[in-house]
Amino acid sequence: MCGIVGAVGLEDCSETLLDSLKRLEYRGYDSSGVVTQDGDSFQMRRAVGKLKNLSQLMHESPLNGRSGLGHTRWATHGGVSERNAHPHIAGDKVVIVHNGIIENHSVLRAELEAEGHKFASETDSEVLAHLFLAAFNEGLSPRDAGVRVLSMIEGTFALAAMHIDHPDMMIVARNASPLAIGIGDGSGFVGSDAVALAHLTRNVIYLKDNDLAIVRPDGVEVFDIEGTPVNREVVIVAASQGMVDKGGYRHFMEKEIHEQPDAIAHTLAAMTDSQGLLATPIPRDELAAIDGIVMLAAGTSHYAAMVARYWIENLARVPVTCEIASEYRYRNPVTSAYSCAVAISQSGESLDTLMAMRHAGEAGLRTVGLVNVAGSTIAREADLVMPTRAGPEIGVASTKAFTAQLTALICFAAALAEAKGEITPERRDEIHRQIQKLPSLVGKSLGLFDEIRPVAHELTSARSALYLGRDVLFPVAMEGALKLKELSYIHAEGFASGEMKHGPIALIEEGLPVVALLAADEVMGKAASNLQEASARGARIILVTEERAAGTVDFADSVIKVPDVDPLLAPLLLSVPMQILAYLTAYEKGTDVDQPRNLAKSVTVE
Ligand code: F6R
Repeated sequence: MCGIVGAVGLEDCSETLLDSLKRLEYRGYDSSGVVTQDGDSFQMRRAVGKLKNLSQLMHESPLNGRSGLGHTRWATHGGVSERNAHPHIAGDKVVIVHNGIIENHSVLRAELEAEGHKFASETDSEVLAHLFLAAFNEGLSPRDAGVRVLSMIEGTFALAAMHIDHPDMMIVARNASPLAIGIGDGSGFVGSDAVALAHLTRNVIYLKDNDLAIVRPDGVEVFDIEGTPVNREVVIVAASQGMVDKGGYRHFMEKEIHEQPDAIAHTLAAMTDSQGLLATPIPRDELAAIDGIVMLAAGTSHYAAMVARYWIENLARVPVTCEIASEYRYRNPVTSAYSCAVAISQSGESLDTLMAMRHAGEAGLRTVGLVNVAGSTIAREADLVMPTRAGPEIGVASTKAFTAQLTALICFAAALAEAKGEITPERRDEIHRQIQKLPSLVGKSLGLFDEIRPVAHELTSARSALYLGRDVLFPVAMEGALKLKELSYIHAEGFASGEMKHGPIALIEEGLPVVALLAADEVMGKAASNLQEASARGARIILVTEERAAGTVDFADSVIKVPDVDPLLAPLLLSVPMQILAYLTAYEKGTDVDQPRNLAKSVTVE
């Protein structure tokens, strides 16, 4: 996914670039680098590993210069090494940083090598540096060089380039990967998102796909792919400056787990109208006309979609299909059965989800973006935006964004059901009242840390774990398993409890941890029987349940209880102890909780 930054027109840009990179480290943390233009040469520092390694290097060996670029990498093409770290310099004249994938890089590289260009890395990105070099060597202007390069590359990109003979100038361009240009006072900036620039300026231009811009200290010129000048609005962003603060917690994830009561309350406020009634940003007549919904999302957001399917079909009797975004657009889906596509994304930048939403939009579906980051690409491109108000989520594993998504989705389900006449306004208001209890119920569940610690301690020695849930708790089980595997690297899978006997039960052996979700709902008895089958075969049952359902499984080895809750909202409340279990297990194992290996927060490659 990678994060890119750039600055022109500063007294000394290196610290500024480093500060911006710190705000983007969530995008990738395999390696990083900064380049500055110092007189007639580029000075570069690159380091493998976390940004602190680069920071230390730059402390020992500082860089000077008014303008420069920076990059934090999530490796795609080429292993994690210093030579594959960005920036990439070509011919001592051009330097680039890039986020995305240049799909035709092999062909371009072969052509460039045949012309005598010498490559220093295995990355796809380096071709950009050589393409710019070739264009400048032909005497093209920065704009024309940009147009030339864009006409040659295929794939996704947010890029910034500098040329040694054009000091204080950056060429920037994007296609599908996010990019924000910041306008300073006698300075100009670029970043993968506005948060990277929040300490520098609030005046931001978001480029459209295939836009090209020339950024100088005295202003920004934007062109389309042909090089024709175009106007792009300057927007004032309200990016939080306080986002890089752990607020006294050990990890962002721990802080974000604790922020859930607020995240839920703020999201609920966004789904409540001026009369205090449950409402959505979708006009009521449009809601009433929805006759089929396709949900598009990835990872944790996809599990939120799967929970919502149960809610929407149950309450509103509207058919819902949940699609893994990366699968959707390439399998030629039949779209005529649905009138509305809901793209769910914390970041609003997951490329798979963005592309799937575009695909649905092109097929004529009304698109709704359920996003946490205002101003993100999905938020800007969706026909309508349904916001979650979880605040910045920095820990790579999603926690508060997930419960905020569920909050928005249960509100959506109830409002849709009422608009379609499937439930009465009184029932909608009753659901609203129950949702209002969630911040306090989640707050109480946060007191479970001490109780869960010994369970987590035992889990650290496991090589594998199963998560089981039935009905609406099935996707919650998959989300629980995802949290455990991505944070603690313990293999974990979520299954529908009733499906165990059709195969997965073969995995059960003496002592295998089975995290079992149980609520006081219609399928409680059947779910308990499925657990009995697992226990009888030696599984160690870790029951995660409501107070009132706990007695149903009296053979559990450990029991983690949340307060009783309306059955509709059990998926949301039961998610919290699972987050705590995964967090504490990872903490005890000593893994990197906020930045687990191989992952990145915002996945802007396909
Ligand atoms: C897991 C996690 C990921 C994201 C997924 C989609 O904890 O955070 O699975 O949910 O990459 O990201 P967004 O929601 O930003 O589109």
